[in-house]
Amino acid sequence: MTIEQSKWRSDFPLLAKKVRGKPIVYLDSAATALKPWPVIERVGHFLSYETANVHRGAHFLADQATQAYEAARAKVAKFLGASQPSQIVFTRGTTESMNLVAQSWGLANLKTGDEILLTEMEHHSVIVPWQLVAEKTGAKLVVVDISESGELSLNEIREKMSSRTRVAAITHCSNALGTINDIKGIANIVHSAGAILCVDGAQAVTCRPVSVTDLHADFYAFSGHKLFAPYGIGVLYGRSELLEAMPPYQGGGSMISEVRFEKTSFHDVPYRFEAGTPNIEGVLGLAAAIEYLERQSWDEVMDHEEHLRRYLEEGVRAIGGFRIHGEAAQKSPLVSLTLDGAHASDVGEILDQENIAVRCGHHCAQPLMRKLGVPATVRASLSIYNQKSDADAFLHGLIKAQEMLL
Ligand code: ALA
Repeated sequence: MTIEQSKWRSDFPLLAKKVRGKPIVYLDSAATALKPWPVIERVGHFLSYETANVHRGAHFLADQATQAYEAARAKVAKFLGASQPSQIVFTRGTTESMNLVAQSWGLANLKTGDEILLTEMEHHSVIVPWQLVAEKTGAKLVVVDISESGELSLNEIREKMSSRTRVAAITHCSNALGTINDIKGIANIVHSAGAILCVDGAQAVTCRPVSVTDLHADFYAFSGHKLFAPYGIGVLYGRSELLEAMPPYQGGGSMISEVRFEKTSFHDVPYRFEAGTPNIEGVLGLAAAIEYLERQSWDEVMDHEEHLRRYLEEGVRAIGGFRIHGEAAQKSPLVSLTLDGAHASDVGEILDQENIAVRCGHHCAQPLMRKLGVPATVRASLSIYNQKSDADAFLHGLIKAQEMLL
C-alpha cells in the first residue's frame, strides 16, 4: 500500500460527509479518532436491542449484558498484553485513570519528602493529579528535562531518581511532540530505584502494539475515544499486587462486598474501582474498536502512518518558515509546528476555512510550551484513514496561511 490512498477510508462514515459543501480533511486524530461502522453499529445494537444493567439483574438481558461486559474486559487485557482480566479497570478515560492511581495509590503510599518523577513533556492529566496528591501528602515533584529534539535521556532520568523517588508518571508518547519514549528502559531504571512506573498510554496505543508485560509498566492508562471507540470510556491496567493493596477511589454500588452503617467491606479488584453503573455501551464499543483493529495488520497500519508523517514533514520543510517541534527518532504520526511571526490560532483559522481540521493550542501541555518558548502550536495528527490528498491539502493550507499572515 502507498500513501496515495487509504484502504480504511470507507470504514469511517464521517469522511463521506460534506462540511460547508466540501469534504473534511480530518487531521485531528490525536484529539479524537473518527469512529468506524462496526463501533457505531455495536453501540446502536446494544442500546436498541440489548439494554440492561450489568452485575445486578437476574434476567436474560442482564446476564447477556454482564457476559458481554466481562468478555470486553478480557479482550482489553489481551489487547494490552496483561496476564489477567482482573488487572483491567474501566474508567472514563486516561484522565480518570491517572486520578485513580494518584488518589488511591498515591494517598496511601506517599508521605512528606517522597518524590514523584515527571517529565517536561507530560500532559496536564499526568501533572495535575500528582500535584494535587503532592500538596496533600507533602511529597515533591521532580521534573526530567527534554532534549532539543524533544526526547528523554535515560541518563537524565537516572540522575533525577533518588532514594526518595516512589513513583514516576511518564507518557509513552507525547501528544504535543509525537515522541515515543523508551518505556521499557525507563521501567528498568525506575524499578532499580524501588519506585513504580505509571504510564500514560493515550497516544501510544493508537499507533503501535503495546504489551504492558513486555514494557514492565506498573500502571498503564488509555482512552477509548482516541482508539476509534466511543467517548467516556477508558482503561487503567494495574499490576495485581498494587491494585489489590489499593483502597477504593469512589464509593457506591457494585464496589462493595457488604455494607453496614458501622463499616463497609469492599469487593475484589477490579470491581472495587468501578462504583455505580458503568458505561456499558462504551465498554462494548471499545471491544468492537479493538476487534476492528485486530482485523488489521499493525505492520501495515504503522507503515502507512509513518510514510504519511514523513511526507508531511518533508513538505513542511520544503515550504520553509515553519518550525517543527519534536524531531525524535521514534514518533507517533503527528506534526506539531509554528509559523515564525504568526500565532498558531491564526494559522488554524485559515486552515479551518479550507475545511482542514487540526488542533491549535497548548495541547494541555503548558509546561512543555513554555520549554519550547511558544504559547501554542498547530498540530496535524494522522490516522489510518488519512492519505496523501489530506497531507497535500494541509501543505497548501500552510502556504496560504503564510501568504496571508506574513
Ligand atoms: N489529549 C488530547 C489531545 O492531545 C485531547 O488533543
